[in-house]
Amino acid sequence: MPSLRNLTISSILAILEVVNAQETVGFGPAFSLGPVSSSSWIRESVTTLVLPDIPSPSADRLALWAGMGTSGGDLIQALAVSFADPNANCGAEVGQWCTWASTLKGTQLGGEQVPANPGDELTMHYKYNDSTGNYDQSVAINGSIVSTLSTDDGVAQGWGTAVECQDDACKSSVPAHRYLSTKIILDTADASFGNTLVLTEASSSGLTTTDGGKTWAVSTININAHTFTD
Ligand SMILES: *[C@@H]1O[C@H](CO)[C@@H](O)[C@H](O)[C@H]1NC(C)=O
Ligand SMILES: *[C@@H]1O[C@H](CO)[C@@H](O)[C@H](O)[C@H]1NC(C)=O
Repeated sequence: MPSLRNLTISSILAILEVVNAQETVGFGPAFSLGPVSSSSWIRESVTTLVLPDIPSPSADRLALWAGMGTSGGDLIQALAVSFADPNANCGAEVGQWCTWASTLKGTQLGGEQVPANPGDELTMHYKYNDSTGNYDQSVAINGSIVSTLSTDDGVAQGWGTAVECQDDACKSSVPAHRYLSTKIILDTADASFGNTLVLTEASSSGLTTTDGGKTWAVSTININAHTFTD
């Protein structure tokens, strides 16, 4: 496995903000974990985002995602995005989100983009594939897979949720929302992984492990409502 492990999700985000300096980018509430200890890495994660109503006003662009920063400098991040013109982006109607499997790898790679409704349960699943060395990614709506992507990213070292605004959406209000049945499976146990948790305008039902730190679970992550004022 690659030994480079200096990039946590937050440092990747800091780099992205510099790269995108010509645009406004802002981050709101978050549940963030990582980096995992240097002898381990994240083999698999799954979480289910219950989509809230779209932000108000709806503008380009507001993204909800649960992602993993990797040793390759990539960000595996299935997306739910609210656009000013959702029809032009994924054929969605006003009031709907667009969702798709995605990895930020220099450029933003993505699977098929599909409409999703407030109240839909978006399951974001990332799993390291031992035969290819890629992470295989899927997004399901109420249990039916709608978008997939497989990318070569090194190994994942951090896991976190984000409320990310860009440009005009950095003046919008995003409703509170929840991530359910989150599970993060490490390659080998890291009993101190739970100590890396940072909650920003968020709370959780508790992060637990029953196998000494290899598998981590949290039944509910509550993300607070947030108004961007950039
Ligand atoms: C998904 O499930 C939610 C909650 O039961 C329901 O409100 C929604 O209509 C369902 N969406 C689809 C596309 O079936
Ligand atoms: C690994 O990737 C290959 C090529 O995409 C795929 O055929 C295989 O099913 C994957 N393995 C697992 C366990 O999903």
